[in-house]
Amino acid sequence: MKEIKIFSPASIANLSCGFDILGVCLDKIGDEITVRKTDKKGVTIKKVLGESLSTDISVNVAGVSAMALLNETEVDCGFEIEINKGIKPGSGIGSSAASSAGSVFAINKLIGEPYTKKELIKFAMQGELAASDSKHADNVAAVLLGGFTFVRNSEENDYFKLNTPIEIAFTVIHPKIELKTKDSRAVVKNQVPIQKMIEQSANLGAFISGLYTENYDLISRSIKDVIIEPLRSILIPKFDEIKYESIKAGALGCGISGSGPSIFAMSKGIPTANCVGEAMKNVYQDLNLEYDIHISCVNDKGIQILNSK
Ligand code: HSE
Repeated sequence: MKEIKIFSPASIANLSCGFDILGVCLDKIGDEITVRKTDKKGVTIKKVLGESLSTDISVNVAGVSAMALLNETEVDCGFEIEINKGIKPGSGIGSSAASSAGSVFAINKLIGEPYTKKELIKFAMQGELAASDSKHADNVAAVLLGGFTFVRNSEENDYFKLNTPIEIAFTVIHPKIELKTKDSRAVVKNQVPIQKMIEQSANLGAFISGLYTENYDLISRSIKDVIIEPLRSILIPKFDEIKYESIKAGALGCGISGSGPSIFAMSKGIPTANCVGEAMKNVYQDLNLEYDIHISCVNDKGIQILNSK
């Protein structure tokens, strides 16, 4: 195989109760990445379409993660990357994760798959580190493994997939303001009162139990964040109203998508997710602010190959 084109999807990290450890992979929205082998060793980013991003491999996260992989792997060729960004950087739906995970997934395929998808997570995390000064694996694990994913310990490379209840659907509203993960992490406090730790871990356990037992009521009761959301939500226009109206329209729960500014709502069934989208639109209609709305099922497969030759 000399060339591969892949679709690297968007993702939602945290899902309210699992800061830095829970993630879910979305459908339809994502980056398209083409990687081709070259005779000259090393990595080059030939072009980036859709967004104005650097093609410097020490700056562009796709280059950073690719180099992390190649620094640990013997190969006798180089790689040329083209990225068509479908996800806006700083949107909170895993833009850097899609590019970081996408480039290592594609290179791994081109060199005969020496790494499992789980093993690629540590390389993709280097892209996250470059983008946000933080090595969180929640988005890249979801993109590479697909479905709902859990990060038990990234130092130990311990990640796993969770069950996906068949009817889960997401509505995501992306207010078009850029909120850098670095800035959004800066408002998070380093210490957590024990009572909040108890509430958050109780919700996390119950949420995961709800995924496995397909208990939508339990899932609904558990989509809560008593630690991070109160600190970050003030950075997002009309967050409380969006949350209130989404739940009123039938969502199981609603919270900040990753580090924001996108807001997600989780529903049972696409028709409800569509109603939630309408409710979200109504909240934003009088604001002088552009936004996008995405409705998505859970993408259980993660990154997909579009073609190869
Ligand atoms: N878990 C990370 C955060 C995700 O919330 O900062 C960033 O995309």
